[in-house]
Amino acid sequence: MNKIRIKFASKLGLVAAAAGSAVGLGNIWRFPSQAADGGGALFIFLYIACILFFGIPLMMGEFIVGRSGRANASGSFQKLAPGTQWKWVGRLGIITAFLILGFYMVVCGWTMEYIMQSVSGQLMATDSFSEAFGNLLQNPTRQVVWMLLFTILTAFFILAGVKKGIEQSAKILMPVLFLILLVLGIRSITLPGSVEGLAFLFKPNIESVKSTIFLDAIGQAFFSLSIGMGCMTTYGSYFRDDSNLRKTAVQVSLLDTLVAVLAGIVIFPAAFALTQTPDTIVSSLVAGGPGLLFITIPELFHHMPFSSLWSALFFVLLGIAALTSTISLMEVVTTFLHEEFDMLRRNAVTLVAMGVAVLGVVSSMSPQFFNMLDYTTAKILLPLSGLFISLFIGWYLDKKITFAQLSNEGTLSVSVRFIKLYIFILRYVAPVAIVGIFIYGIFF
Ligand code: PFF
Repeated sequence: MNKIRIKFASKLGLVAAAAGSAVGLGNIWRFPSQAADGGGALFIFLYIACILFFGIPLMMGEFIVGRSGRANASGSFQKLAPGTQWKWVGRLGIITAFLILGFYMVVCGWTMEYIMQSVSGQLMATDSFSEAFGNLLQNPTRQVVWMLLFTILTAFFILAGVKKGIEQSAKILMPVLFLILLVLGIRSITLPGSVEGLAFLFKPNIESVKSTIFLDAIGQAFFSLSIGMGCMTTYGSYFRDDSNLRKTAVQVSLLDTLVAVLAGIVIFPAAFALTQTPDTIVSSLVAGGPGLLFITIPELFHHMPFSSLWSALFFVLLGIAALTSTISLMEVVTTFLHEEFDMLRRNAVTLVAMGVAVLGVVSSMSPQFFNMLDYTTAKILLPLSGLFISLFIGWYLDKKITFAQLSNEGTLSVSVRFIKLYIFILRYVAPVAIVGIFIYGIFF
């Protein structure tokens, strides 16, 4: 355990890597379908509130644990709280990361299929995009092949090492994805009939609220920020001593939220504008569920010149955004096995990839299993993990460590008021809110 840990080389590199982990299918695929399911504007409002009040403080918290522990998600807790059971908080995260990979990889596989179909021109030749997506879901073999390929690709990048693999790819490609979303957003809101989609996004409709809306929002916030699964703890352990943890958490969270909202601006106006009967839109949006992105986006491209080219570009970038997220997820489990069981990194990656492949095969064949993994991780394990992390920093961890980490041993100015407020949020506000949301969402 006394090996010298690799650290991220540059400041931009660490923001890019953390943002690369956060920005992924969660923003562009999961957020719109959750927002549609949650009735639009109110869900989005709650989601943003969760990011501000729990997401950013908890991301900072994970960074603190990771950088002061300088080990994997479980090992960091162990170092900070030797002889206690707190290491199980880290381990819970590692298990969650593994389970998330079990369904996330399948969606990565769909992205690969859409890349191929865009390049071959087959996608734009289809009459009905919902039928095309339905056909893919009916074809487990195709899904499994793509899912396996994506798993191998991720493992390959992990083996290429932290700096080269993660940092380099994230630094270049994230801004490109952002730009293309911007172009698409403009195209979507300039479609005739898009206004209703914007209203759905930004005008609350109280009647359609479900009792699970809080749980859905917090689950989505944690999922999207990569919080509660040891990921930001593991990345925190690679941060340099002079990295500014507060600034990084705020920057990454804002960027992540921006991408999610931008994805909403791309998808909802297009979905409303391109479907003829407004009455059925909301129900079809909800029914669209996991397919929303894969149905609406090709439809949008269909109404643009050079549709196949756009579509190929979009799905390639989506695939890359997904890759920087799967890398971070797989890295969490791999580093744990490598450090705690003294496994060679190569063997650890192989083992994790094989496990993920098994889960992925079952998820490809059974939508119920897919949904169960999604539900259990996002709505049970992540909030639970978030709760424990806030309790750890709020109640257990020596405040001096929190202060030293947030101020880089006193070299950055941090007011005492800020630290007090921070501890107060993690001590009382976040735990009470998470427990409340949990009870309300599960039992009512
Ligand atoms: N945050 C990623 C996304 O929004 O797609 C998904 C993810 C990555 C979740 C890494 C968890 C994680 F540890």
